[in-house]
Amino acid sequence: MANKPYDRIEVASRDEIGALQLDRLKWSLRHAYDNVAHYRQKFDKAGVRPDDLKTLADLARFPFTTKEDLRQTYPFGMFAVPRDRVVRVHASSGTTGKPTVVGYTAKDIDNWASLVARSIHASGGRPGDIIHVAYGYGLFTGGLGAHYGGERLGCTVIPMSGGMTERQVQLIRDFRPDIIMVTPSYMLAIVDEMERQGMNPRDCSLRIGIHGAEPWTQAMRQEIEARAGMDAVDIYGLSEVMGPGVANECVEAKDGPVIWEDHFYPEIIDPATGAAVPDGRFGEMVFTTLTKEALPVIRYRTRDLTRLLPGTARSMRRFDRITGRSDDMLIIRGVNLFPSQIEELILKDRRLAPHYVLEVRREDRLDTLTVVVEPRADLAGDADAGREAAQRLARDIKSSIGVTAAVTVAEVGKIERSIGKARRVIDLRPKG
Ligand code: DLL
Repeated sequence: MANKPYDRIEVASRDEIGALQLDRLKWSLRHAYDNVAHYRQKFDKAGVRPDDLKTLADLARFPFTTKEDLRQTYPFGMFAVPRDRVVRVHASSGTTGKPTVVGYTAKDIDNWASLVARSIHASGGRPGDIIHVAYGYGLFTGGLGAHYGGERLGCTVIPMSGGMTERQVQLIRDFRPDIIMVTPSYMLAIVDEMERQGMNPRDCSLRIGIHGAEPWTQAMRQEIEARAGMDAVDIYGLSEVMGPGVANECVEAKDGPVIWEDHFYPEIIDPATGAAVPDGRFGEMVFTTLTKEALPVIRYRTRDLTRLLPGTARSMRRFDRITGRSDDMLIIRGVNLFPSQIEELILKDRRLAPHYVLEVRREDRLDTLTVVVEPRADLAGDADAGREAAQRLARDIKSSIGVTAAVTVAEVGKIERSIGKARRVIDLRPKG
């Protein structure tokens, strides 16, 4: 499918993109230094000034920003504009303690809407399409971010939010949307519900699913595309950097999200040492915002593990599928493991459904892993098939990841369904 860019800059030369990035980076460092005491102190301590940036590579001399910086300055201490210029606030609920608060000026919201419009366009959406938004509305950036982008592109937006799965299906039947924007795990719950209601999901009106906010595998994409009969495209973002639409896949390539490099400068670092690693090598993704007014972030450590790849459908660089977050990594008897590795193995077996959780326990001071997974609905009553599938999965986990795991095939519906980001790990280890 031919897919023209939404903005000319998406296919500009690397030289032009690089020059724009350098200009904007200088502005962003200066803006952060002049207007945020916390940045000024950190830069001074590291002995760097905004003027020290002469080339893009000089960015490596500047200190990182982490979630901890946002916590220390809670709630509004990192804002670089007077509070009365902040027109919107979002927050992400941290696993511990205070939420992380982010703010936007009117111009920031305008840029965000344009970038989500660009993202929907890259996914194959066009003005006039109907978009069903099932990302949560509220402090989470998913719902409102998708919403403004859909409107900006000239679409009809249905602000459904997450939850009430029966109603989601009813409105999809009645309003006949072309596009759905929802987490991949909740998309599966919607497809299950369509089938429960006796509808073939492939017959529904949906043409494109724009899925993100959590890691998902290539196998999960194939599952969604096969069952829902639509293109499933990856959208990426994080609240600290903006929200959804920091990067988005092109539907014609489906080869990893394209980073909207005119607004966000990416780097990959070694998470242990902080040293920059070259494109093509795996590490932790770091972003510097180039245009954000209310909350400029300089070298923000995302904890997302991936690698940078050269442009294909666009001149801007892409990243590989995120294997996981460094904070989701489990270490089972010395072996590192991410939930996405288990997801891939589960989806290889047609007897198993992609509904799963990983339970971690501590026995005799050693961590143990139990994978709880559901069978496909059509195999629900077949205990033998369930047992065999469990044995095979345990064998596959041992041989391909090197970890001994117990596998339990639970009853259909036993694993809690997410209405947003799925919780894949249940930590049953004693606290402290
Ligand atoms: O999840 C923003 C968003 C909303 C993105 C809707 C896409 C769609 P946060 O709640 O701050 O923001 O969580 C950000 O989610 O650092 C990743 O770990 C993860 N994440 C987001 N998109 C993807 C993706 C939103 N496409 C965190 N693939 C990020 C893998 C993703 N992980």
